[in-house]
Amino acid sequence: MELAGIKMKNPVMVASGTFGFGKDFADYIDLNKLGAIVTKSVTLKPREGNPPPRIVETPSGMLNSIGLQNKGIEHFLKKQLPFLAKFDTPTIVNIAGESVEDYAELARILSQETTVKGIEVNISCPNVKKGGMSFGCDAGLTKQVIAAVRKATTQPIIAKLTPNVADITLPAKAAAEGGADALSLINTIVGMSIDIETGGSRLGSLTGGLSGPAIRPIAVRLVYEAARAVKIPVIGIGGIMSGSDAVEFFHAGAKAVQVGTANFVDTSAAINVIKEIEEYVHRHPRAFNFS
Ligand code: SIN
Repeated sequence: MELAGIKMKNPVMVASGTFGFGKDFADYIDLNKLGAIVTKSVTLKPREGNPPPRIVETPSGMLNSIGLQNKGIEHFLKKQLPFLAKFDTPTIVNIAGESVEDYAELARILSQETTVKGIEVNISCPNVKKGGMSFGCDAGLTKQVIAAVRKATTQPIIAKLTPNVADITLPAKAAAEGGADALSLINTIVGMSIDIETGGSRLGSLTGGLSGPAIRPIAVRLVYEAARAVKIPVIGIGGIMSGSDAVEFFHAGAKAVQVGTANFVDTSAAINVIKEIEEYVHRHPRAFNFS
C-alpha cells in the first residue's frame, strides 16, 4: 500500500516516543514486518527533558512528561539512522522545534537522507514550554510551521495534531493548506494525577500527556471529524491495543494507524495488531481498500 507517497507493507506504524529508534525492539520482533517506524522526536540541539518522575500509570492509561529528551539531530544521523537503514521498513522521522525556523532547518537536514521516507511534524507535544502543542493549538501557526517544512523538503510530511483543541477540523484544514501530505492524530491529552499523601502531582512537571485505552473513544471521534474535514489521509492514534481497536479507526476514516502505548506493555503489540487486522480483512474482504 501507499500512504502520502510512502510505500508500506501494511497500515500499521509504531508511534513516536513509544519505540525509541527501533534498536530496543529489534531483539524481540522483526522490524521488517512493520508498516513504518516513526522515531522518537528529534530536535536540533540535545534536550535533557523534564524533571522526574516522568511517567505514571493511570486507569487504563498512562501520563508522560518526558519533555522531548533526545540527543539532537547530529547524533541521530550518526548513531540512530544507520541502524534503521538496515531494515526494509520506511523510517519516518518525528521532528520537534521551539520555532518555525527549527522545524524548517530539521526538515532541510533530513531532506538529504535517503533512508528517511517521511517527516512527522510534532506540533502537539504538551510537555514543553516553547513550541510543541502551542503550534498545534493555533491554526495560523500550524499552517506556518507546515508551510515552512513544505518549503524545506520534498519528502512526505505528516502533521501530528493535538487533541487539546475545541475544534480539530481547524488545525486539520490548516495543516492540509500548509502542504501536509497526511495527518496523524491524536497526540496525548493533557492530564494530571495527584498523590493524595503528599497532595502534590505524581509528575515532576505537574501535568503530562495521557495515552492508552482511556483515550481511545476520544481519538476515534477526532479521527472521524478530521477525516471528513480534509482530503489528505488521516493516520489514527490513540490507545490501540489490538486489531479490533485499529479496525475501529479504519471505520472512522483512518487510512493507517500507529500503535503507541501498547508497545510498553508488549513488545509484539504492533505485530499482533497487524495479524489481527489481516484476520478481520479475511472475514470482511470488502471492508477497506489498503492500496
Ligand atoms: C514528551 O517528550 O514529553 C512527549 C512527546 C509528545 O507528546 O509529543
